[in-house]
Amino acid sequence: MTDMLVKLYDLQVDWPLVDRLQQLGVSFRKPLGSETDLITDWVKTQFSPGWASETARAIANQPATCLIAVQAGELLGFACYDAAALGMFGPMGIAPAHQGKSLGKALLHLSLFDMKSKGYAYAIVGWVGPPEFYTKTVGAVAIPDSSPGLWQTALKR
Ligand SMILES: CC(C)(COP(=O)(O)OP(=O)(O)OC[C@H]1O[C@@H](n2cnc3c(N)ncnc32)[C@H](O)[C@@H]1OP(=O)(O)O)[C@@H](O)C(=O)NCCC(=O)NCCS
Repeated sequence: MTDMLVKLYDLQVDWPLVDRLQQLGVSFRKPLGSETDLITDWVKTQFSPGWASETARAIANQPATCLIAVQAGELLGFACYDAAALGMFGPMGIAPAHQGKSLGKALLHLSLFDMKSKGYAYAIVGWVGPPEFYTKTVGAVAIPDSSPGLWQTALKR
């Protein structure tokens, strides 16, 4: 699992896509404080305890460095940055029933736009799951010799 680099200064947000999804009733926004437990429990159940810890950290950042996609009160997906380490994007995940509907692309674009607005020139996608998704959606390139990278001395359960 390698890390990947994204040029934020070249980022082209797909605003028409974001618009289309919003018209279908999807909201992309930062979590409310009151939603913290609900979101981290959801991430733990759908994905992993480690991702839930990183999400808790991202929500606690001020301002929060977590975005969620919500439709009719249902959590569809989440994306975080500055969670594992500063300048790193991830974790992110879309509920299995809602994958393949461009929600991941929209959340990724909006999160990277948030990073760019904060002043970052590059984002590092940590411990990438599907590299093709990041290459296709934001032109990410693999960072040589970056596995296991930051996580080489991580605690094991
Ligand atoms: C990876 C993930 C975030 C993608 O979100 P998604 O909403 O399903 O993806 P999208 O519908 O936005 O896909 C955007 C494009 O990427 C492609 N893509 C999505 N997942 C892909 C994958 N696993 N491999 C290759 N291409 C992929 C899609 O085909 C689509 O291409 P298109 O625009 O030509 O149609 C989602 O599948 C997921 O949550 N996976 C499990 C958790 C995970 O792996 N998180 C990432 C950890 S680094």
